[in-house]
Amino acid sequence: MSLNALFQLIRSQSKYDLTGIRDAYLTTQIHYHQQKVGIPDYGAFYEHLLKDTQTLQSLVAACLNNATRFFRNPQLFDILQNQVFPGLISQKIQNQQPLKIWVTACSTGDEAYSLAIILHKILSTISPPIPLEMLATDLSIEAIQAAKAGSVISNNLIDVDQTLLKEYFTYKDGRYYIKSIIKDYVKFNIHDFLNPQAHSLTIPSDFDIIICRNALLYYEVERQVQAIQYLHQHLIANGLLILSEFEVMPMHCTPLFQKSAQAAYIFSKK
Ligand SMILES: C[S@@+](CC[C@H](N)C(=O)[O-])C[C@H]1O[C@@H](n2cnc3c(N)ncnc32)[C@H](O)[C@@H]1O
Repeated sequence: MSLNALFQLIRSQSKYDLTGIRDAYLTTQIHYHQQKVGIPDYGAFYEHLLKDTQTLQSLVAACLNNATRFFRNPQLFDILQNQVFPGLISQKIQNQQPLKIWVTACSTGDEAYSLAIILHKILSTISPPIPLEMLATDLSIEAIQAAKAGSVISNNLIDVDQTLLKEYFTYKDGRYYIKSIIKDYVKFNIHDFLNPQAHSLTIPSDFDIIICRNALLYYEVERQVQAIQYLHQHLIANGLLILSEFEVMPMHCTPLFQKSAQAAYIFSKK
């Protein structure tokens, strides 16, 4: 039996559309789960999965990796805090406009809440404060439910220092909870950037910043291009698209953006 039969089984079992996920990534997950149950033969593993629903579900879930954490890649948050937000916020004050940010593929919300913490620090020094409109979306229903609940596992807080922990989180029964002052900054919603019509959410087309990190790298290049073209339509002129340090702008999309001076993974809309 070939790997293709396993791909088909996994895709048929997911409630999400995994058609664009790279075969190489699915293969890595298959090998990992094969190792766990000690069945190296594809055919035998296929038969095993039909009986072992727990392993099958674990494999299906792993194909939509939702690993995240607060202040993941701290360099980005430094750049935003010290190089991007000061200029952008003065411009917004001058033009009396809200600051609009969209975090796509936000998983359980850690990235959006990290940004909200930084923005809370900056905006609380400005009087009168400028309005902040922050949308955070993900394909995964479970991830968005967790994001809305604002409860955080300790592992996702390894990059958060003690002062921030005390200031912005409460601790109860082994879990941390983000305080409502930060929670209230972000609106969470389910949304698929490859199939935006699937949900009734209307996405504005004038974001100053769109963040889409560690999601595109799981997709084939054609899907990456499709997603980036879509995100491009939702930015204002010169608005920023931020990818992760592991992702590159597909060649096909380079006419749409120019590289920013701050980092190789920050792009400005042409
Ligand atoms: C590895 S997590 C990255 C989370 C966060 N951006 C970060 O960098 O820490 C990838 C997330 O992308 C989401 N995702 C994958 N495909 C998506 C799509 N087509 N539309 C929206 N979200 C998607 C997954 O559900 C998952 O939560």
